[in-house]
Amino acid sequence: MNVPQHIAIIMDGNGRWAKAKGMPRNYGHAQGSKNVERICEDAYKMGVKYLTVYAFSTENWSRPAGEVNALMKLLRNYMKTCLKTAEKNRMKVRVIGDITGLDDDIRNRILELEEASKNNDGLNFQIAINYGSRDEILRAVRKLAEDVKEGKLVPEEITEQCFESYLDTHDIPDPDLLIRTSGELRLSNYLLWQLAYTEFYFTDVPWPDFTKEELIKAIEHYNNRDRRYGGVKEE
Ligand code: IPE
Ligand code: IPE
Ligand code: MG
Repeated sequence: MNVPQHIAIIMDGNGRWAKAKGMPRNYGHAQGSKNVERICEDAYKMGVKYLTVYAFSTENWSRPAGEVNALMKLLRNYMKTCLKTAEKNRMKVRVIGDITGLDDDIRNRILELEEASKNNDGLNFQIAINYGSRDEILRAVRKLAEDVKEGKLVPEEITEQCFESYLDTHDIPDPDLLIRTSGELRLSNYLLWQLAYTEFYFTDVPWPDFTKEELIKAIEHYNNRDRRYGGVKEE
């Protein structure tokens, strides 16, 4: 089986999963967060080199305060566990998104985790927190405009490669496969630039139920696609 080098995941459906069990939405988030650890390990064992997960979007601030607080608490704890897991699995962790919008303690834990894991040679694991693709592109454009203003760059030098170096995902190859769980067929402001040629896989399975078997199904689906990049199929 041809295993994609980079898989991006929109981990959706925690709330509905919990509700269907007669439990509060935040229970779904707690179970969903445990599942991230399992899938990281499974993906890496299967040969995936890069995994990028959507944990909290720039739009998720509009959820009720109680839910936002619960999600931030989970992220706080997750950063701590992840420090241990990263050491054990040799995982290199990076956070994409605007971390200046997060509480100081979470931001510090993120910086600590990135620093501690930066030389690891296992799975490259990206977590999107306070991430929105439009926000990422605007932040990149502002920085690029500053560099032009300061004379570090002339507009003619702004190639795709140059622009990408300003994105949060610089040095990370584009995803080969995007998975969205729980039935919604949209991108919700995720990696709009990076997904230009990515294969999409949508499943009705909610994130807390997304197991290794489901991951294999997604990769099998990817294997049956006919990727062309604008060309014609090779005979
Ligand atoms: C995904 O699950 C997790 C986050 C967005 C943080 P949801 O919370 O969106 O769950 P549903 O889609 O409401 O079921
Ligand atoms: C996308 O899911 C964001 C994350 C998974 C973190 P949402 O559940 O927030 O997306 P919408 O609001 O249904 O588009
Ligand atoms: Mg959702």
